[in-house]
Amino acid sequence: MITVNAAVFTGPNQPLEMRELQISDQPGANEVLVKIAASGVCHSDLHALSGEWETPAPLVLGHEGAGVVIAAGSEVTGLEVGDHVVLSWTPSCQKCEFCVTGNPVLCQLANETAYQHVFSDGKTRLKDGEEDVKSFLGVGSFADHAMVPASAAIKIRKDAPFAQAALVGCAVTTGIGAVVNTAKVEPYSTVLVIGGGGVGLNIVQGARLVGAKQIILADVSEDKLELGRKFGATHTINSREVDLLTAVKELTEGRGVDYAFEAIGLPFTIEASYEAVRRGGTAVVVGQVADGVKISIDPFVMSDQEKKLIGSNYGSSRQSIDFPNIIDQYMEGLVDLDSMVTDRIALSEVNEAFAEMRKGRGIRSVIEYPMA
Ligand SMILES: NC(=O)c1ccc[n+]([C@@H]2O[C@H](COP(=O)([O-])OP(=O)(O)OC[C@H]3O[C@@H](n4cnc5c(N)ncnc54)[C@H](O)[C@@H]3O)[C@@H](O)[C@H]2O)c1
Ligand SMILES: [Zn+2]
Ligand SMILES: [Zn+2]
Repeated sequence: MITVNAAVFTGPNQPLEMRELQISDQPGANEVLVKIAASGVCHSDLHALSGEWETPAPLVLGHEGAGVVIAAGSEVTGLEVGDHVVLSWTPSCQKCEFCVTGNPVLCQLANETAYQHVFSDGKTRLKDGEEDVKSFLGVGSFADHAMVPASAAIKIRKDAPFAQAALVGCAVTTGIGAVVNTAKVEPYSTVLVIGGGGVGLNIVQGARLVGAKQIILADVSEDKLELGRKFGATHTINSREVDLLTAVKELTEGRGVDYAFEAIGLPFTIEASYEAVRRGGTAVVVGQVADGVKISIDPFVMSDQEKKLIGSNYGSSRQSIDFPNIIDQYMEGLVDLDSMVTDRIALSEVNEAFAEMRKGRGIRSVIEYPMA
């Protein structure tokens, strides 16, 4: 057994509690034990913390992590002690119909296990004395160690810095992937992104990468709009000050955009994303709403104008391919991850990071763990 320093979720809107937990140092046959080096703080953690998503307690939050493999199970292939990894919150079983048809983000096993915050045997790996402690989305990176299925540990090059690499585990892959994999945005397209947080700015960045000619970012924060221009936005709309749809019409000569991405998780901005696309255009729901929220869409417009409304989970990524590719692009200077890390904090400061996120400040707070 080893001791794990963790920030534990005990119930909605309670500050995360710093606790010492226990974990076995002997991974199961197909598992690896990872010493976490860095973890981003994502809005999905806040959905859980704020009670917008029903979440069991006690549980270690955090799902955007990177670290080093310190022990590997007897049947693990392709990973060894000392490897640097980015963690995936949708471990692919590599056997179900979704995995074998190239859609590992829809993996049946991941839906039944990681999305329920447990392992494939239905159990947890962390203990607080006698009590089981779950790991958020099978990751639980608000802790200095995590046991994960081997398929959730994606090997990356060793010269990539951990703080930036951690963000590839959620926001970066979700954002770039929504453009590249889900919507397959073509060069010279016109793109609207509503919400310029960690995810939305990566949608902007993805649109730039594929050669979109017009990238419009809408947010209520001037800081985010300024950052958006840095990541490739050609136009910005402060939707607190002006009407979003009117502004989009003006910028597109009345036509609407080819693609609109919602990256907040609010019903009225999802509806706005649909209204903002041109005839035959595509709106992509990336932001995730609170449990039970519904939207209202005019189905006549849908058929008459052939407008599409699609969803994107984890950027429709194939993590074992996309994580290393994105990190290569970062190391080559094509993808900006440095500007995403707006705060570097200790685990004990994670509650303050959520307070900043609620205020819409910064892009990503990244927890850095001592590696000595
Ligand atoms: N689909 C997926 O696989 C996936 C993965 C990760 C995160 N998400 C979801 O994406 C969403 C964004 O996550 P994030 O980490 O980027 O969040 P974030 O808090 O970093 O960013 C949200 C942004 O939205 C802006 N905003 C808030 N209200 C607004 C409004 N009314 N109009 C315009 N802008 C507004 C904020 O100023 C902020 O810049 C969340 O719902 C999260 O759960 C989805
Ligand atoms: Zn996330
Ligand atoms: Zn599967």
